[in-house]
Amino acid sequence: MRVDHALSIADLAEAARRRLPPSIHGYVSGGSEDQASLDGNRAAFRRWRFLTRPLVDVSTRSQAIELFGTCYASPVGIAPMGVSGLCCFDGDVALARAAATAQAPSVLSAASTVPLERVMREAPGTWYQAYLPAQHAVIDPLLDRLKAAGVGVLVITVDVQIASVRENEVRNGFSIPLRLTPRLMAGGMMRPRWMIETFGRTMWRQGIPRFENFTATRGGRIITAAKGDHRAGRAAMTWDHVARIRERWPGRLLVKGILRPEDAHSAQRIGADGIFVSNHGGRQLDDAVSPLDMLPAIVAAAPHLTVLLDGGVRRGTDVLKALALGAHGVFVGRPAMYGLAVGGEAGAARALELLRREIDVDQALLGCPDVRQLGPDWLVRDDRLPL
Ligand code: FNR
Repeated sequence: MRVDHALSIADLAEAARRRLPPSIHGYVSGGSEDQASLDGNRAAFRRWRFLTRPLVDVSTRSQAIELFGTCYASPVGIAPMGVSGLCCFDGDVALARAAATAQAPSVLSAASTVPLERVMREAPGTWYQAYLPAQHAVIDPLLDRLKAAGVGVLVITVDVQIASVRENEVRNGFSIPLRLTPRLMAGGMMRPRWMIETFGRTMWRQGIPRFENFTATRGGRIITAAKGDHRAGRAAMTWDHVARIRERWPGRLLVKGILRPEDAHSAQRIGADGIFVSNHGGRQLDDAVSPLDMLPAIVAAAPHLTVLLDGGVRRGTDVLKALALGAHGVFVGRPAMYGLAVGGEAGAARALELLRREIDVDQALLGCPDVRQLGPDWLVRDDRLPL
């Protein structure tokens, strides 16, 4: 499919399913255990309906937002996603460039395979997401590396204490570090275009990719287990570690994976600049509450934080709902990865463009010329409709 033929994120998702080997598609699209959180993230958006406001001049509309002193053309950014190079050659750069061109924020995952210095050169302003072990000796040199590379926004993900169980990955023979199982290779054979354009091109140009950005030094190949495991030590992380990073990190600091108002308050207390209200797209603890459901209470508990939301955003209306419930910005994971799988940088750009266009139309029909006017009075919950 040509990316400009995709009319919705759902179209990109279907095209990505056809393009990717089943095991890699499962890695991107799946959730943990019974996928209850994954499904719950979508269900949470459906519980809210709009209270439209006609006869308002919507002939000019703005969806621009400001985050940390930077003006973005749209309130939708790209969330960090590991090993995007499995979906597209040079995937980390393609995602970052798609966002930068659209004047949208994006976050480079720690589990990425292009050196972060190159990503920062190709797409200045990209944020970096860390997966940290509770070891100062590992954290401090990484902070130095980030500073030297010009990273301004550091996001610490705190909901991957250990790996979750995603049964589809086990069944499909998928794991990280990647093992070249017969099932994985057979899946690749079923997708010749992926085999040539992603697998073949990556091997030809770069060889077996490495985890370039977990720490201050280059990590191992994605097919070999790092010493122990790249997640080693993360389970011991506490607020004390984040507070210590706050003392040493001069840039903006965000904590990703917050679902409790008290934790949002803790983030504010230690001097974080913002949080991602997130359940990791339903990929970690299954049955974790949906971020949208917790958003109003979290915003109330931490009024000085920049509150970002991700999980289940697939339409412009979802973005408007999240902003109305108090998010300062909204991020998407899978939609951008689906676009990336189908059309590389242009595909990821298409995902952002579809959402931007939907927001623009939705704003007009809602009667809201500027997204900064949104608040809870624009919504009503399904179960609280007046009789
Ligand atoms: C992720 N996510 C993620 N988060 C993170 O902090 N570091 C990471 O390396 C990854 N890796 C990753 C890989 C893939 C394939 C996906 C789909 C997601 C979670 C991501 O940042 C975000 O929280 C969710 O993807 C948001 O949900 P949606 O938009 O995918 O529904």
